[in-house]
Amino acid sequence: MQKLKEEIGQVLAPLVDLDPSEVINLLEVPPEPEFGDLAFPCYVLSKKLKKAPPLIARELSEKLADEEGHFWGKAEPRGPYINFYIAPQSFSQEILNQIWRQGSEYGHTNIGNGGNLPIDYSSPNIAKPFGVGHIRSTVIGHALYLIYRAIGYNSIGVNHLGDWGTQFGKLIVAFERWGDQEKLESDPVNYLYHLYVRFHQEADKDPALDDEARLWFKKLEAGEEEATAYWKSFRQLSLDNYAVIYDLLGIKFEHFHGESHYNEMLDDVIELALEKGIAKESEGALMVDLEPHGLPPVMLRKKDGATLYITRDLAAAIYRHERFHFARSLYVVGAEQTLHFQQLFKVLELLGFEWARNCVHVPFGLIRFKEGRMSTRAGKIILLDEVLQRSINLARQIIEEKNPDLEDKEHAARAVGIGAVRFGDLSNDRIKNIEFDWDKVLDFSGETAAYIQYAHARICSILRKAEPDYRQWDDRAVALLTEEEEVTLIKTLALLPDKIIASAENYRPSILARYLIDVAREFNRFYHHCPVLNSSNDLKHGRLLLIDAAGQVITNGLGLLGIIAPEEM
Ligand code: ARG
Repeated sequence: MQKLKEEIGQVLAPLVDLDPSEVINLLEVPPEPEFGDLAFPCYVLSKKLKKAPPLIARELSEKLADEEGHFWGKAEPRGPYINFYIAPQSFSQEILNQIWRQGSEYGHTNIGNGGNLPIDYSSPNIAKPFGVGHIRSTVIGHALYLIYRAIGYNSIGVNHLGDWGTQFGKLIVAFERWGDQEKLESDPVNYLYHLYVRFHQEADKDPALDDEARLWFKKLEAGEEEATAYWKSFRQLSLDNYAVIYDLLGIKFEHFHGESHYNEMLDDVIELALEKGIAKESEGALMVDLEPHGLPPVMLRKKDGATLYITRDLAAAIYRHERFHFARSLYVVGAEQTLHFQQLFKVLELLGFEWARNCVHVPFGLIRFKEGRMSTRAGKIILLDEVLQRSINLARQIIEEKNPDLEDKEHAARAVGIGAVRFGDLSNDRIKNIEFDWDKVLDFSGETAAYIQYAHARICSILRKAEPDYRQWDDRAVALLTEEEEVTLIKTLALLPDKIIASAENYRPSILARYLIDVAREFNRFYHHCPVLNSSNDLKHGRLLLIDAAGQVITNGLGLLGIIAPEEM
């Protein structure tokens, strides 16, 4: 498309007395494919030429008829527009050759110019299990991490672990009263969670427990030895558990900077807020009034001296800016924290940090299983590792049925099972709530990862059957791809770079996910209409190159969603 634009710019510019770049900027994508691939709006010239736009369009089209276009096939007037149609053959050659040459890099650009981009994602709360509510942050955050890398940013994965706060006071109280070291060591995360739930049940009856918990947390904040030892062991046991999940998902964080990481920076934040005159004492607590900005007040320090989630987030934001000089700083956190981030960014702005405007909250809706909203408090929870294991098991059963002779079933089951969970999330607009339905996310003919993975496996199987010598570029063979299904598939493949950019700029991996469904669908349509291995030699070669490119686009695209496309399944 870019080349077509440039070509139109070169040829049209002298005819309309504009710079090629001005022409390019004016080009529009027509609303319907029948109106061409790009359109030039002639009404912008009507004042200058003192003519009606449709007349200008007709006259220019006549002049253009004499021009040789390599990429455009024809230029036709339609109302006030000149519609340009891509020349299918040169377009096909250009696109398929690009995919051929760039391989796993196809779709990547360098818009980001290496700029640092910390992405705060996953960020579970220690000593509470990694619930399925965190799955969305993990899956969306990781996709954005990969997508931003692909457009030239230096994504930096930051896990802002919830490893500080009053819940540690509660856990210590619970462990002191009802704890059993052996149980803790044998199944730490579930056991800590069990203690956490028990604490809340008991504290409902006996509010004194809450005071005790607050006291323990104060000791922890003061660095008292016993409290610190508890905290360290709870933290480490939880971290070991997360490592298993992140491994399964192929996620590596550059930084595990939990909330506790910022403890020693909190005094500076508070001092700065006082210095700037935005923080005021109120009944012993330290508050920032945000009323003039239409937001509720922020508490930086409680009257017992304890700091809060937002105090640590302020320190974290400042730290990230000092350390990374980021181009943008993303927070992939549920929509229920929208207010928190509005307050956070506003306070940063009031502290005089201009870069506050480069901080972005990327919110998402809730995820529900049939059981209703997952809540750590109520004691009903589905753990992410259980969800993943269950998905892998279901995928294994399906594969067992469909392809009993498959050699590496385990590899395929993992790819399909994990792909189902990831894609089941990522294919939805993130801001919507999702209802997770096993039948749907594993449906091989639905809008699922398996559907796309299956198209890819089919491509690989055809390529395996073809003689290896198709693996050579052949311009002539590609020029034979003129069937409607072929051209449409190629046009779809050409969109990958734009879709990746759009996913990044809108913070919406769903754009890429939906696009990959289109690719698989267009491949299937092609496959049903155009024989590959049974067509004559040159055409066969062209079609093999085409499906090779389609396979590459699927691999690259799914890869950016953190999903593997197995060769067989
Ligand atoms: N641990 C928090 C939670 O589970 C999410 C942290 C998000 N990141 C941040 N910088 N506040 O609710």
